[in-house]
Amino acid sequence: MEKFYVTTPIYYVNDIPHLGHAYTTTAADIVARFNRFLGRDVFFLTGTDEHGQKIQQAAEKRGMTPKEFVDTLVPKFKELWEKLNISYDHFIRTTDPEHIKAVQYIFKKCYENGDIYLGEYEGWYCIPCETYHTEKELLEGKYCPMCKREVVRVKEESYFFRLSKYQDRLLEFYEKNPDFIAPEFRRNEVINFVKQGLKDLSISRTSFTWGIPVPINEKHVIYVWFDALTNYLTAVGYPDNMDKVNHYWPADLHLVGKDILRFHTVYWPAFLMSAGLEIPKRVFAHGWWTVNGEKMSKSKGNVVNPFEIIEKFGVDQVRFFLFREVSFGLDGDFTYEKLVGRINGELANDLGNLFNRTLSMLKKYRKSVVPEPKGTEDELDVELKNKAIATAARLKELIPKAELTRALEEIWQFVSFVNFYIDRRAPWSLNKEGKEELDRVLYNMVEALRFITAFVYPYMPSSAEKMAEMLKLGKKAESLRISEFEEWGGIKPGTELEKGGILFPRIEYNPETGEVSIAKTKKSK
Ligand code: MSP
Repeated sequence: MEKFYVTTPIYYVNDIPHLGHAYTTTAADIVARFNRFLGRDVFFLTGTDEHGQKIQQAAEKRGMTPKEFVDTLVPKFKELWEKLNISYDHFIRTTDPEHIKAVQYIFKKCYENGDIYLGEYEGWYCIPCETYHTEKELLEGKYCPMCKREVVRVKEESYFFRLSKYQDRLLEFYEKNPDFIAPEFRRNEVINFVKQGLKDLSISRTSFTWGIPVPINEKHVIYVWFDALTNYLTAVGYPDNMDKVNHYWPADLHLVGKDILRFHTVYWPAFLMSAGLEIPKRVFAHGWWTVNGEKMSKSKGNVVNPFEIIEKFGVDQVRFFLFREVSFGLDGDFTYEKLVGRINGELANDLGNLFNRTLSMLKKYRKSVVPEPKGTEDELDVELKNKAIATAARLKELIPKAELTRALEEIWQFVSFVNFYIDRRAPWSLNKEGKEELDRVLYNMVEALRFITAFVYPYMPSSAEKMAEMLKLGKKAESLRISEFEEWGGIKPGTELEKGGILFPRIEYNPETGEVSIAKTKKSK
């Protein structure tokens, strides 16, 4: 069986999860669910990044040990993944003993290969980003170019990784693997960065203790990024279970935010080259969400709490919005108005109403029993079929590459086309005129809904389960496979379907109070 290994970044557990975390993880979930639909053996990894100075400091502030502190936060992440319907296969923590072993093992391997040496580091360090910066990179001489916070001067003995040695090999690798970094404009940024020259990288610290000890010198702890990146290998059994490693490695897709692309496309491949391991197939960087045009920050008090919006608007509504509103890969802006607009427009009107009106007509004209598709097909029928099958094929190209908004656009074009088909066919007139063609049209309408159920499943898994139930597919949406969507005609004539139902209620939102309520709907005829 073909495998597919997809990862999220492992999240720092210095605070409770926010919208940004929910975003990357939902993206990975969509990719994982779709690959299962393709019949692949999927391994979907997420987890937490628990070492480093930032965590040590946050714990000290609360009078706890770092481990006690991270133990209080990890359940919050797991709880969010449950609420968001995240179907991860494994949750890794960098404090797991297997991980500590894997990091020390790979460190030693790079050392034995002559790529790690002891030197002295003096430079500017940003604690929140756990990153060194050169003088030139600093903003106004003292602020971090990534997070804009003040950096500190540090001087310490440090182990270095010979990153400079890998510059040409990296450039050659990008050249030979044009799909490795996406989107394209990000790829160019990385290439330009590497072309400017790579300096050796400090990969150990002596100024704090909360980390994995350097195996050859216990005075040092391993740099948190060297530690964190290795999680992708630990989770598939490195180094003890090489059968499993050989099965799943290299990862097919690392999903990351734009801020951590460099770590995944420059440092990580270089570490892997040094350790003699294969490079992942693709790293996709998404953009950042702002809120009402402003950066999310605790001090501004505008951080979007994912628990709250799921509770208020519904999990699938939120999942859908995140990938429909903003092209995956670009930055975007979150507002409640936009969220409500998408829910009422696309979910309630386009999709929800399509299901409800189809099932209502089937009930009214054929007592909810799927008819035998009678009469001869015309061009419009053929177009509907072809579009359904072509959309399935198109999703297969797009979703595994993380082109999640483009894929959703394809799905919506199909939803709109089905609505157009119904309006053109006007089943109510066919019924009035007593035309036999009505059977064929109703059949096509419910069959189109079967396709739509599979298409939306990765994005909105719990709604897709309701759809599968309404259509009496005889199995759960999560068990559907692409082989059932290569031909038209899966819905069996004679099946009695549900009478209708509201999948996505229209909502009313009061921007002043923040209150959300279900809008009163007109009874459909
Ligand atoms: N621990 C590292 C990752 C190590 S992976 C080997 C880390 N953690 S993080 O918790 O700070 O961030 C994780 C992810 O959240 C990043 O991909 C980042 O881009 C994403 N986001 C944080 N804020 C965000 C927004 N406002 N919008 C979208 N995503 C954002 O970095």
